[in-house]
Amino acid sequence: MGRAAGSWRGAALACGLALLVLGGRAAALDNGLARTPTMGWLHWERFLCSTDCAREPLSCISEQLFMQMADLMVSDGWKDVGYEYVCIDDCWMSTTRDDQDRLQPDPERFPSGIRKLADYVHSKGLKLGIYGDVGNKTCAGFPGSYGHYDLDAQTFADWGVDLLKFDGCNFGTLNQLSEGYRNMSLALNKTGRSIVYSCEWPFYMRLLQKPNYTEIKHYCNHWRNFVDVYDAWNSIKSILDWTAVHQDSIVDIAGPGGWNDPDMLVIGNFGLSWDQQLTQMALWAIMAAPLFMSNDLRHISPQAKALLQNKDVIAINQDPLGKQGYRITKENNLELWERPLAGGAYAVAVLNRQEIGGPQTFSFSTSFLGNGLACNPACSIQQILPTSEDWGLHNWVSFLNVEVNPTGTVLLKVVVIGESPGEMPLMNIHKKKSPDIL
Ligand code: GLA
Repeated sequence: MGRAAGSWRGAALACGLALLVLGGRAAALDNGLARTPTMGWLHWERFLCSTDCAREPLSCISEQLFMQMADLMVSDGWKDVGYEYVCIDDCWMSTTRDDQDRLQPDPERFPSGIRKLADYVHSKGLKLGIYGDVGNKTCAGFPGSYGHYDLDAQTFADWGVDLLKFDGCNFGTLNQLSEGYRNMSLALNKTGRSIVYSCEWPFYMRLLQKPNYTEIKHYCNHWRNFVDVYDAWNSIKSILDWTAVHQDSIVDIAGPGGWNDPDMLVIGNFGLSWDQQLTQMALWAIMAAPLFMSNDLRHISPQAKALLQNKDVIAINQDPLGKQGYRITKENNLELWERPLAGGAYAVAVLNRQEIGGPQTFSFSTSFLGNGLACNPACSIQQILPTSEDWGLHNWVSFLNVEVNPTGTVLLKVVVIGESPGEMPLMNIHKKKSPDIL
């Protein structure tokens, strides 16, 4: 558990000023949380706003659903590999506030109240997340927090909540949106409880104005940039494309305490083929994304479970260096991504975007990785996905031939061996490759 957010307000203001003066790598929200991307389970994509428990007793948004997920997170090994936060999304509330103006859960679906649910989740060694909205109403029409930021933050803290997903529907003016996100951050901090603050600020802001990521990172632990994920390959593709197109403005800002959030993992549901599920897991690791599964842990295939619990992929996602990866190149529907890891290692993903035909082979020089440093003078390569395989030793003039299924991904870990003589003068990943490199 990170240290409780204490008295960073004054320091934050001074620090903000220093940032304006100094520029450079932005400071993260200083609440000690999310030093690696947050991992957990979030109900939205799989269970949406199902409120009719008479008709859908097993999938309505109720305390029972979250208790069952908490039970399974422990009994089925999810907690052991790092999934920690059991998170409620929209539609948990009653349609009105209580007589003291506090948010309250729907009494039929959460008869024991959120405090009791939090106690239950904590008794399992897990943490509880909840959902609110910066505007007048949540996206599904339940009470929003506008004008109640301090009260709602205190209510969440009193209940023992550990994470707040703060949505941005119905926000009024752009100024109100930004003020609201800032004020809720300060309000959470004032409670003295450690509460991860998950924002959608840049996503809503972008509709009107370019987001200021330095500021966003100063107030939020992670932030959504783009539209909601769906259980469909089109959705995964569009998130990857958006991220690659905007990588120059979003990759460098990510780091311990503050992460870009490409939305939930939909692995284990209905819409993605096996190769597409591999792609989501691999690329979410490359992107240093928070890993919130939205699936039904009561009904999940052993294959999807093994993928979501793959320790080598999770280790890449949780790498302590905390640098987000990026796309190096896209050629003939083959994409090469890499992520710098601690100790001079790299995670490398080769993605085949061609949706016709069979497996394609991407051939490239190792000198193309890590700006020429990943295999310089030598490296060992481990294939992580689709299966774990040792690719042995390579050096800076090796060529790799990587065969990838349509819409699938091969994920590798490249560990440098020996003293690097320094950056290769020929290599510049941002420039077009000369023919003798490929
Ligand atoms: C928005 C968010 C989703 C989800 C819904 C709930 O669309 O982006 O992640 O929280 O609202 O209504």
